[in-house]
Formats: sequence, structure tokens, C-alpha cells
Amino acid sequence: MSMAALAHEGITVSKLHPHVGAEIIGVDLRHPLDEMSFEIIREAWNQHTVLVLRDQRIDDEQQVEFASRFGTLEETTFTVAADNPYIYKLSNVDDEGNVLPVGSKKRLFLDVNARWHTDSSFRPIPALGSILSARKVPAKEHGDTAFASMRVGWETLPDERKRALEGLVAVHDYSYSVGLFGDKLIPKSEMDSVPPVRHPLVRTHPPTGLGSLFVSGHIERIDGMPVEEGRALVAELIEWCTRPEYVYRHRWRQHDLVMWDNRCALHRATAIPATEPRLMHRATIAGEGPVA
Ligand code: OGA
Ligand code: MN
Repeated sequence: MSMAALAHEGITVSKLHPHVGAEIIGVDLRHPLDEMSFEIIREAWNQHTVLVLRDQRIDDEQQVEFASRFGTLEETTFTVAADNPYIYKLSNVDDEGNVLPVGSKKRLFLDVNARWHTDSSFRPIPALGSILSARKVPAKEHGDTAFASMRVGWETLPDERKRALEGLVAVHDYSYSVGLFGDKLIPKSEMDSVPPVRHPLVRTHPPTGLGSLFVSGHIERIDGMPVEEGRALVAELIEWCTRPEYVYRHRWRQHDLVMWDNRCALHRATAIPATEPRLMHRATIAGEGPVA
């Protein structure tokens, strides 16, 4: 993309961190984006993995419209359905505004998000990306979200380590990651809709052709390895990708829109506010095909 195109309509892309994340300035998603503006955003997303757009006072319909331009959307399931079928409602309070207790079914989705993961990696076709809109941000308890690049994680591994990892296959299982927080809270019929799936531990990021690790808190084991050994390997690789100097930690402001590329980003909630309400709406872009 030429510099002239990057300056289109005054849109600027500015890095938030040396390894992951950039801010897009100069768009208002309440209005439909022209093709050129959209391409600038898509290009920046492919490059920077996480994008932050401040002050986007959008509703669900506008969020869904923007997200749909990147691909078909995942329909909401489990306990997080909002009014719009494509919006996941992530709230730490019940309908009366009381903070949900630890271990309650409605809170499960938030608890699972507190471990490093990539969204929907437990599906046969994992999510391409997620777009999160901050509808209510706590004043004191920040509830930051942390991000790291699995592409950078891969790139910084020694060559011999890369060779040892190539060809390994991980089993991703939502009932495993959910089970760590509250076994049997989600009805069997819902869990049966997401049986364990296998994805390679190393993948190619399609838009850039770059290699990437593909690790996630949803991994239950590595094929052909003793369970504990496989889990230790996954934990080690996640730790590698999320070395503190490689992490961008997003401090939310009301109306922030943050989008991440699930093909090469790890993310996690850092703390769920214990007294103040926090409300996020997420649109999830479905992947385009199997991982390999
Ligand atoms: C998500 C997620 C983290 C957060 O929306 O997929 O993991 O901090 N969110 O809310
Ligand atoms: Mn997530």
C-alpha cells in the first residue's frame, strides 16, 4: 500500500507497541466505510495483529456491519447471547446489576477468558478475528486485556526448536478449558456441539504468509505425547509468546473498539472487576477454512 493511500481521508496508523498493536485514527464506524478506508484498516490489521480504535460510539448493528466486511460471523452460543445473534455479551453483572459470583454459569465465559487463549480454537474452523466494543468500563478496576503475537513467538524461537515443533498436532477441547472453572455448568447438549478438534501447533498466517505458533488455553493435550508432557509444552510456548516485553496491555476507555487476529494473537482478561460493572460486546469473524 502506498503512502498516498495510507493518508487517505486522514486515516493514520500508529504503533502502540514494538511487537503487537496499532491505533487507527480518523475513522467513525457509525458511518459506512468506503472501500479504500476499509482496505487501510485490513492491511494494518494483517500487519499489526491488534488494532485499537478509540471513541467508536456504535450500536450492535453498526458493530455487526463493520465486522461482516471481514467475513461471515460466528453466531453466539453458550451463556453469552445478546439480542443480536452475532453479538457476544460479556458482562460481569446480572440483570439487576449485581456482580456475578465466581463459579456461576453466567460468569464462566469471563473466567475462561482469563487464561491466555485464541478465540474459538476449539472449533473445526477457528475464528479469524474478534472485535470487542467497550460499552461500560469500570472507573477504578480497570479490567485490562493483554495481547501477544504468536507470529513473533514463532519467529523468535531457535531454528532447532522450530523443527522439533513442526508437525505436532494439538487437541483443543472447550469442555477441558471450561471444566477448569466449573464442570458441568454448561448443559451437555451445548458441549456436545463442540467436540474436541485437532489443529497443527504451527500454522501459516494466510494474509502475510508468515509462520505462527497456534497455542491456546483450549488445548487439552498434544497428539502422541503423554497428557502432562503435552500440557507442559503448551504452557511453555504460551509463556514464550507472552514474555512481558512482548505483551501489549490495553487499558480500556468507554467506546474503545479493539480487534485482534485470532490466527496469530493470544489474549487474556487480566482481572474481572469485582465490584464495578464492565460490559463488552463482541462480534466474532469465522475462519475461512481448516488451519492446515
Ligand atoms: C474475548 C476476551 C477478554 C476481556 O472477548 O474473547 O477474551 O478482557 N475478552 O474481556
Ligand atoms: Mn477471548
